[in-house]
Amino acid sequence: MPNLAVIGTQWGDEGKGKIVDLLCEQFDIVARYQGGHNAGHTVKFADQHFALRLIPSGILHADKLCLLGNGMVIDPEALLEEIEKLRALGVHIDSNLKISDSAHCILPYHKALDLAREEAAGQGKIGTTGRGIGPAYEAKVGRYGIRIADLLDPDLLRARIEFACAEKNLLLKSVYGRETYDPQKLFETYLRYGEVLAERITNGTVWINEHLRNGKSVMFEGAQGTMLDIDHGTYPFVTSSNTVVGGICTGLGVAPKHIHRVIGVVKAYTTRVGGGAFPTELTDEQGEHLRARGNEFGTVTGRPRRCGWLDLPVLRTSAMLNGIDSIALTKLDVLDELAEIPICTGYNVRGERWKTFPAFAVSHHDYKPEYRTFKGWKKSIVGLTSIDDLPQAARDYIRFIEDEVEAPVSIISTGPRREETIVR
Ligand code: IMP
Repeated sequence: MPNLAVIGTQWGDEGKGKIVDLLCEQFDIVARYQGGHNAGHTVKFADQHFALRLIPSGILHADKLCLLGNGMVIDPEALLEEIEKLRALGVHIDSNLKISDSAHCILPYHKALDLAREEAAGQGKIGTTGRGIGPAYEAKVGRYGIRIADLLDPDLLRARIEFACAEKNLLLKSVYGRETYDPQKLFETYLRYGEVLAERITNGTVWINEHLRNGKSVMFEGAQGTMLDIDHGTYPFVTSSNTVVGGICTGLGVAPKHIHRVIGVVKAYTTRVGGGAFPTELTDEQGEHLRARGNEFGTVTGRPRRCGWLDLPVLRTSAMLNGIDSIALTKLDVLDELAEIPICTGYNVRGERWKTFPAFAVSHHDYKPEYRTFKGWKKSIVGLTSIDDLPQAARDYIRFIEDEVEAPVSIISTGPRREETIVR
């Protein structure tokens, strides 16, 4: 089986969890390569509802191996909580879940700094998930982060925590007037996390490459979306990792030749959580309709998501950055009741037509989205499993996306459950 990357093409929350869950039967390993518990994947089947944050959706299949890659930032407390919650729902988690020893840890002062900075930024805040993601990646790039492997080395761990606390406590107290952290307590807590997680910690890069050499197939599970990529997204309103396909190579230590196919997950409309440009955003009752019907509230923070029409410049940019081979179109049923469905086909930037995302013009509000309006199908497609049963108007909508993005739609999601899917 060729290895497959599943990538969010918009601003996250495209429904990647369901697609990974659906396709992972065909793979031996599901690996995450970036982000942390800012992600929230929801998978529903057999009347059960699984909320995944750090752990790949493959964990719901007992015979799959799952890896948290070196490109991730991991809050051990959140990870242990997630493991316990999933176990309580009957999910088998044993030696099937591995953690790369080079992934970085999120510590409580990262979270405190994330929250303090957001508050200090006022109107200019990013709207982060408040999980400490940015500060943990800062520590990594600054080369004083604490890695998962360090949890197994008491002397090193103590020294690193003491060093970090000396600076972070000063910053938290003097600049932000926040509480400080006792390095000894943190050391004891994180040493304990290391003991509990020890059997899962491995050299993730060697682990995955050995499996690849032995002919095992891998699904690479992206978190967040392309427009939240630190390099290619709507900076600074982005997350702190590389969400695009390139992040797989560095975030797992896997060479490009092992990424055989890329599936881009596209929600049938657009959503975004937090601040930043959103050209097709609807602030009227139509946006409210999408939010209510699509249940567009954050899995992690519960925040209402901003909603808008499908944006082809975003998708074309994503297709370019990720080399998308095919599309999984999610939440098509959310559009069921609409009489008309506009799609943004390009932007007018000072009289010039842009077909990809003009980051500079968008951040300066110097653009005008241009729309083409499609007829709605005005009937329920919830739960359909065959393309032949889709109304012609829905097929026209899909066909237009395929033509414009230059990739076939191979999966159409018609409801939140595993079964509610059309596979072409
Ligand atoms: P952070 O990743 O918590 O630093 O948040 C940075 C930006 O990314 C904010 O706008 C968040 O709302 C957004 N973000 C982070 N994770 C997700 C996700 O899983 N889905 C959608 N947006 C996300």
